[in-house]
Amino acid sequence: MRLTARSTSAVTAKAGAVLLPVSTDNSLPAPTKAVDTACGKALSALIDAGDLGKSAGSTASLHRVKGAAAERIVLVRAHAADASLGEVENGYYAAITSLTKSGASDAVSFLNAAGHDRFEPNELAHLEICALRDATYRHDTFKSGDAPKSTLNRYAAATEDKTSLAMIKRAVAKADAIYSGVALSRDLANTPPNVCTPVFLADRARALGKEHDALKVSVLDEKRMAKLGMGALLAVARGSRNPPRLIAMEYQGAAKRHKPIVLVGKGVTFDTGGISIKPSAAMDEMKFDMCGAAAVFGAVQAAAAMKLKCNLVGVVGAVENMPDGDAYRPGDVLTSMSGKTIEVLNTDAEGRLVLADALTWSARFKPAAMIDLATLTGACVVALGRHASAVMGDDALCADLVMAGQDSGDRAWQLPLWDDYKKQLESVVADFSNLGGSPGGAITAGAFLSHFTEGQCWAHMDIAGTAWPHRGRKWSSGRPVRLLSRYLETVAETQSA
Ligand code: BES
Ligand code: MN
Ligand code: ZN
Repeated sequence: MRLTARSTSAVTAKAGAVLLPVSTDNSLPAPTKAVDTACGKALSALIDAGDLGKSAGSTASLHRVKGAAAERIVLVRAHAADASLGEVENGYYAAITSLTKSGASDAVSFLNAAGHDRFEPNELAHLEICALRDATYRHDTFKSGDAPKSTLNRYAAATEDKTSLAMIKRAVAKADAIYSGVALSRDLANTPPNVCTPVFLADRARALGKEHDALKVSVLDEKRMAKLGMGALLAVARGSRNPPRLIAMEYQGAAKRHKPIVLVGKGVTFDTGGISIKPSAAMDEMKFDMCGAAAVFGAVQAAAAMKLKCNLVGVVGAVENMPDGDAYRPGDVLTSMSGKTIEVLNTDAEGRLVLADALTWSARFKPAAMIDLATLTGACVVALGRHASAVMGDDALCADLVMAGQDSGDRAWQLPLWDDYKKQLESVVADFSNLGGSPGGAITAGAFLSHFTEGQCWAHMDIAGTAWPHRGRKWSSGRPVRLLSRYLETVAETQSA
C-alpha cells in the first residue's frame, strides 16, 4: 500500500475513489459540499433519500458523477463530534473495509474534514491510517493458493486546506511507522508455534537488527544462561525439544548518558501448561503466549521506524512449556539468577518463572524504567475483560502508561500491588512459591515478579485479555504496541532535551 498525504480539491481529484464525510446531522463538511455543488446536488439527493446509513462508517457510492473527476464518490457517515477515539477509528475501519471490497485501486480521502470536538484533522488522519492498515492487514503466509486480494493499493489522506498539509503529512508518516510495529507484532504472534519457536524469534531479532542501524541485537543460548544461573527460565524450557533463547535488542536513539527504557517480554512460544497440563479446549490459543515478546519486537520496530530520540532495550525470554520425561515438575525447588529460591506448585505458572530471570538479567542495562509485558494470567481477563491491559507496579510509571493508553486508544488500567498480596506466595520449603491461589490471581502474579525487580522503577503489564482475539477473529491485535509507542514518544521528549 502506498500511503501519502495530499493537498487537493475534492472536485478535481482524479482517483478510483474519493472518500467524503457526511456529518451525523446530514450536514456536509466543506469538501463534500464542494462536490455536491459541482455535481448538481447528486450527493444531497442520495442523502435525502435516506440511502446513507446512520452508523459511523456506513458508506454509499456514486459512479462517474458529472462534475467530479473521480471514478467513484464514496460518501461516508462521519463519527459524532464527541465520539471516543475508539469509535472514530471503528468508523474509519468500517468505511475502509467496504472500500477494499470495491474495485477501486486508489483512494483520496477527505475523512479528516469531518469536525470533532477534541481531535484535530492530523489526529483524525493518524486514526484513519491505523484503521487502513488494520483493515488491509493479512496473514496469508500459511494459505496455499491465491488468497482473495483487494485491488486497493494507493491511499492518500487529503486536505483542501494547504496550511494543515504538513501536519497531516507528519501524522500519516508517524501512524505508518507505529503500525509497522503493530504489524510486526501481529505477524510474529500469528505465526504458528511449530514455526515460531524461540530460535525463530532470535533469528527474527537478528534480522531486525540488520534492518536498523541504531539497533544492536544479541542472543544468549542455554549454555550462557546456565552460566548466569538462570534456573527459573531454564526449568521451564527443559521439557521442550526447542531450546530457549534470551534476546536483547538495544536501540540507541538518544545520547548514551540517557538511561534506557527496558521492555521485557514473555515469549512462551507455546504453553501446554507442562506437567500441570492444560485442558485441550482452545489450547491452540496458547501459541499467543508469546504476545508479550511480540509487543516488545513491535515497540522496538516502531521506535526505530519513527527514529525516536530515546534509548530503548527490548528483552525477550523465549521458551516453550511442554510436558516431557525431563520436564520440571510441581514440587521442584528452583534457584533463580537472583539467588532467590522458588517452589513450583504449578508448572502452568511458567511465565513468571521466565520473567523472573529475564527481569533480573535486565538490571544490567541500568534502566530508567523497566516494563514487562506478558500474557500472564487468565485472572487478568476475568478482572478487566478484553478492553484494557492491566498495569501494576511503580505508581508514577503506571500513571504514565495509563495515560499513554488513553492517548493512543490502546487502553490500560492499574491494579493495586500492595505487599499484602505477597503473603499468598508463602512456601514452606523455598523463599516463596509460584502460585498465589485464585483470589487476585493477576495481582499475585505481579507480586511474584516484584521479588525480582527490587530497586528498579518497574511496572508489569498483563496483556492476556488484550493481545488477542482481534475484531472477532482468532488472531493477534498487536496490542499494546500503540500504547508503548505513545509512551516512548513522551520519553523521547525528555531524552532529546
Ligand atoms: N499463559 C497463561 C495465561 C493465560 C491463560 C493467558 C489464558 C491467556 C489466556 C499462563 O501461563 C497460565 O497458565 N497462567 C495460569 C496461572 C495459574 C496456574 C496460577 C492461569 O492463569 O490459570
Ligand atoms: Mn501457563
Ligand atoms: Zn503462559
